[in-house]
Amino acid sequence: MVVPYKEEKSGKKEQVAKMFDNISHRYDFLNHFLSLGIDKGWRKKAIQYLKPFQPKQLLDVATGTGDFAIQALALNPEKIIGIDISAGMLEVGKRKIVDRHVSDRIELMLGDSENLPFEDGRFDAVTVAFGVRNFENLERGLREINRVLKPNGQLVVLEFSKPQKFPFRQVYNFYFKFVLPKIGRAISSDKAAYTYLPESVEAFPDGEKFLHILNIVGFKHAKCRTLTFGISSIYTGTK
Ligand SMILES: C[S@@+](CC[C@H](N)C(=O)[O-])C[C@H]1O[C@@H](n2cnc3c(N)ncnc32)[C@H](O)[C@@H]1O
Repeated sequence: MVVPYKEEKSGKKEQVAKMFDNISHRYDFLNHFLSLGIDKGWRKKAIQYLKPFQPKQLLDVATGTGDFAIQALALNPEKIIGIDISAGMLEVGKRKIVDRHVSDRIELMLGDSENLPFEDGRFDAVTVAFGVRNFENLERGLREINRVLKPNGQLVVLEFSKPQKFPFRQVYNFYFKFVLPKIGRAISSDKAAYTYLPESVEAFPDGEKFLHILNIVGFKHAKCRTLTFGISSIYTGTK
């Protein structure tokens, strides 16, 4: 299992929460800077997928600083709940929600995707952006998401993937493994975080493998759509 702090004995969940707490004050800046702003378009596209379903009750798992939850306002839902295990990330997100005057529609709370504090069938849709790769137990997290969805509820997952084709694969590998960790380390002051990023993407079962896992945990019509030469993918499924 890939963890941020290899010398520590604690489990992945604890280490991931600690890492995101450490980088929370720099997360938004680094996200947009290191992706050259492309992540904004990816989020928009992923949320757009839900438009025809007009979800009213939405859950954003691994919400972090709330960017995906804020993007989901475009769907005009009644309520968006964002949940995350990092109090530091949520703190930054809460400030953004107050500044944007949307506290009546978005609520952020501390909680674990592998043990969601909601009753069965509570949500019309669940979204996860760049979160599933960080779950300690991927299948357990996805089963929990399936449980809290209504029958025919929609899942949208946005996650990094590995470009397959020449020369994108080579350019991406160079940037992701050599350039990005150096910049991330210098700006975020967490030495491990931006080494963990490429390592966790490498270890993540992307593409067909992830679709297979979605099927195993109970999602129907699981589909994958790659973005920007396969650097990122949108996965969708129906309960
Ligand atoms: C890369 S950030 C993504 C944040 C946000 N969704 C975005 O798009 O910017 C990953 C987030 O997943 C959270 N996370 C990891 N494991 C989790 C779990 N088991 N339950 C809830 N959140 C989790 C981390 O704390 C972190 O805030």
